[in-house]
Amino acid sequence: MTPTRETFGNIPLSSQLAFYGLAMVAMGIFCWGVWRRWKLWRLGTPIAFRELISGNLAAVWKKIRPGARRVVVDAGAQQRVRGHGLGTVAHVSLYVGFMALLAGTTLLEADNILSHVSGALKFHRGLYYVIYEYTLDVLGLAFLAGTLFFCWRRLRRPAALGHRPTDWYVLVSFLAIGVTGYLVEALRILWSQPTGITAHCSPVGLWLAGIFDGLTVSATRRAHFAVWWIHSFLVFGFIASIPFTRLFHFIAGPMNIFLAAPSLGQLAPVTMEEVEQTGRVGPSDIRHFSRQQLLSLDACMECGRCEEVCPAFATAKPLSPKRVVQDLKGLMEATGAALAAGKTEGPALHETTIAAETLWSCTACSACVNVCPVRIDQLALIIGLRRHLVAEGGLSGTAATALRRMQSNGNPWGLPPVERANWRDGLAAKS
Ligand code: HEM
Ligand code: SF4
Ligand code: SF4
Repeated sequence: MTPTRETFGNIPLSSQLAFYGLAMVAMGIFCWGVWRRWKLWRLGTPIAFRELISGNLAAVWKKIRPGARRVVVDAGAQQRVRGHGLGTVAHVSLYVGFMALLAGTTLLEADNILSHVSGALKFHRGLYYVIYEYTLDVLGLAFLAGTLFFCWRRLRRPAALGHRPTDWYVLVSFLAIGVTGYLVEALRILWSQPTGITAHCSPVGLWLAGIFDGLTVSATRRAHFAVWWIHSFLVFGFIASIPFTRLFHFIAGPMNIFLAAPSLGQLAPVTMEEVEQTGRVGPSDIRHFSRQQLLSLDACMECGRCEEVCPAFATAKPLSPKRVVQDLKGLMEATGAALAAGKTEGPALHETTIAAETLWSCTACSACVNVCPVRIDQLALIIGLRRHLVAEGGLSGTAATALRRMQSNGNPWGLPPVERANWRDGLAAKS
């Protein structure tokens, strides 16, 4: 017999219709959540996105190719997630498992639709079916293993990692989705009694089915139906929650990777046109950051990698690049809420949200930018804010004196130019 299975076996039509209805609701909540974040990003100054997608196909491809390549390599192949020991292994495992399950579910739905058009179009059968079932069965374990590691890590509460109440919701729902998925498979195997390769291509489900062996067929069918609904509810909850939890990083992350040009060690200059146009230097309000910079705040999943490499943080200065990103994100949300309530502005940016002391603690070493898995440019955020402080005369102490002396004497010590070479006195150096 050709290996295959019914897509909605044991599920009555009324439940199938309710399933699609709830799926639409979950996707509606997902879209609404994404739209809310989108509105917040639009508070920022426009970026030249239209320019990027204008022109003929060849011209557009030329412009978007570097960004598309970054998305494929950094996010798709998880290039920038590497270098974090077991955390990396666990994430790659969870990511590969998740992507396989996502692709598998999409293919299953495509098969379901096509087989309704014509039975001859059904492709979920034969060798394809065997490979499909085996791959998903095994990669489901990778998904569970990665999730279990992240649960274990959260229990230990590492200081560098951000902690929010919804983190446990995400991880526990991932575990529950994985476990109920296998249970549905095991109970389906029990009531449908496949044989040969059709049964053995689902090794985990088959093993689990052995545990429930002894249940009557009607009890198995009832249990299958109940667990199928629990599994479906968990998946809908997961879809709806993405924009409201840390999971949003897998949408905002690739978007930021695409838009953020690599800028390690390069600072965008301030142009006179920009100053004349805006009447200011650097941001004094969250709305003065670019839309891409505001989007980048949402890409942060608080992994703590930037904090771990920051020399200022390591020497107990009042600066954590992760904190700067999170504080700006909080300000973006508060400003969005204030504007929606009819106010003209949100909480203040300088001092209230980010203290000058924090900004001056940065050595501008770029280590944080270099390690960020989603290419957030923490340094550009800090330098922008610092430029504003300088323009407003907010620079004081030795830094201000050094800059003044650079301007008047050409060196930070204020020495007359004729004494510039005095340091050589007493050395064997030739003039
Ligand atoms: C699109 C590319 C992605 C990137 C660049 C990315 C990056 C990261 C990074 C760097 C971490 C922190 C892990 C560590 O430092 O040890 C993380 C955590 C996590 N990611 Fe992703 N991720 C991506 C996609 C995904 C996908 C598709 C999923 C699955 C739905 C996912 C689920 C998670 C989970 C559950 C955590 C752990 C959160 C926690 O600690 O509670 N990620 N991600
Ligand atoms: S800014 Fe980047 S490196 Fe730092 S915590 Fe956020 S995602 Fe991680
Ligand atoms: S650039 Fe500034 S914030 Fe980033 S790691 Fe260096 S000192 Fe820390």
